[in-house]
Amino acid sequence: MTETKTPARGADRAPIPASWDYAPAPEARDIVKIADRYGLFIGGKLVEPLSRQRYTTLDPSREEPLAEIAQAGKADVAKAVRAARDAYTKTWSKLRPSERAKYLFRIARILQERSRELAVLESLNGGKPIRESRDVDLPLAAAHFFYYAGWADKLEYAFPGRTPRPIGVAGQIIPWNFPLLMLAWKIAPALAAGNTVVLKPAETTPLTALVFCDVVRQAELPPGVVNVVTGDGRTGAELVASDGVDKIAFTGSTEVGKAIQRAVAGSGKRLTLELGGKAANIVFDDAPLDQAVEGIVNGIYFNQGHVCCAGSRLFVQESIADAVITKLKRRMSTLRVGDPLDKNTDVGAINSKTQLDKIRALVESGVAEGAEIYQPPCRLPERGYWFAPTVFTNVAQSYRIAQEEIFGPVLSVLTFRTPEEAVEKANNTPYGLSAGVWTEKGSRILAMAARLRAGVVWANTYNRFDPASPFGGYKESGFGREGGLHGLEPYLRLEPR
Ligand code: NAI
Ligand code: MG
Repeated sequence: MTETKTPARGADRAPIPASWDYAPAPEARDIVKIADRYGLFIGGKLVEPLSRQRYTTLDPSREEPLAEIAQAGKADVAKAVRAARDAYTKTWSKLRPSERAKYLFRIARILQERSRELAVLESLNGGKPIRESRDVDLPLAAAHFFYYAGWADKLEYAFPGRTPRPIGVAGQIIPWNFPLLMLAWKIAPALAAGNTVVLKPAETTPLTALVFCDVVRQAELPPGVVNVVTGDGRTGAELVASDGVDKIAFTGSTEVGKAIQRAVAGSGKRLTLELGGKAANIVFDDAPLDQAVEGIVNGIYFNQGHVCCAGSRLFVQESIADAVITKLKRRMSTLRVGDPLDKNTDVGAINSKTQLDKIRALVESGVAEGAEIYQPPCRLPERGYWFAPTVFTNVAQSYRIAQEEIFGPVLSVLTFRTPEEAVEKANNTPYGLSAGVWTEKGSRILAMAARLRAGVVWANTYNRFDPASPFGGYKESGFGREGGLHGLEPYLRLEPR
């Protein structure tokens, strides 16, 4: 009998290379037709801006121009508000709620039908990975219209004992991090409640809102129910100042939110503000660590960290800090940074030069204040706006990187010993939008959720969204809720029956 030696497991296989090179997997761009120039969408038509002013919108991953966009002036905004008022009094407020619902269902269906086109366009104009625009932004945008379509003819059941009435014309100002999704968050509940809208997209990302105007046309929505005025903050300020709007809904920076609150004070206009955040993602020593690391990565590197509820402050219980940081760094080295239209990309381009400069300045302040920086080795493209995934350790509570919203792929790690200390440190911020808790103990999840001053608390997950779930903040993160039943209230007058 001959003796055979069992070969070591895998010895007969090819050696595993030190790094894998992915073949490029680009999503085709030709499904999107971008016009050379766009007008404003007023009264159901794309019209030339009276201001005669335009600017160029870019692909931030290549710094290449995509289209010429109208910079709406005071007269343009006034015209859009008049169109919205007309549509409100003559058609939309008179329509049976079940008829309103049909239009919303139709918009939702068309968004689904055109989802690939819109996802590609969102990634082209905003820099976010196609995987995210395809799997998150578009399905959620359609889901919001489906969800609020369902409420349109059930408002009386939603608010028992009260008579819900629409408010009138809503002026809505949205940011560039989730352009089409924020449009859906704003327009769907407003229309379901019987209001008409004038929406101003962010200056860097107007394109999906302009294609949405074509969706509105396809859905045969009565002219003037949805109007879109493009332009920068000056256009937004005109909309806020307009006498013809009854309500302002804003998502963006705390600084502009405060300016808007001052501007509408005493005017009788209703206001909701969804502003910044500096969320605490808290990991206890009994948490499943690999799962938590996935949640940490998703919490801060999703959408390049351009997320108001991003888990930008990681609090790790001291006894597991080293283990978590080691695992985190290893996981970060597998993140693929690059072409937003590549289906393997995890982290895309930074939305604008301005935002990149802000991220760089805050990261430099972190280094200068004494934090320890780590970035995994990664090749960034030569052209375009890029920032490598970054983690800071040795961070003190007082550092700017622990206090200010960076709105980029930058995580600050702090530690704690007891749940009390975690709560105290987590709440030590002017913001209060979201938080995450990682632990095996259900009772601890409930206790933490009750004590964290945050509008949304995720447990053993992060950055999960659903149209049925209300979203919004405390303190300098704003007021008012979007999503769910709560998201209808800001668009209704609830009169006693
Ligand atoms: P921003 O607040 O200036 O822009 C958001 C929207 O408000 C855009 O549509 C803009 O045109 C409009 N706007 C600007 N000034 C206005 C004014 N005076 N009146 C009416 N509308 C006005 O935000 P920005 O400058 O793009 O980003 C700065 C920082 O704000 C980011 O680095 C981030 O920290 C934070 N931010 C937070 C967002 C969130 O989702 N909570 C979204 C965007 C930015
Ligand atoms: Mg600004």
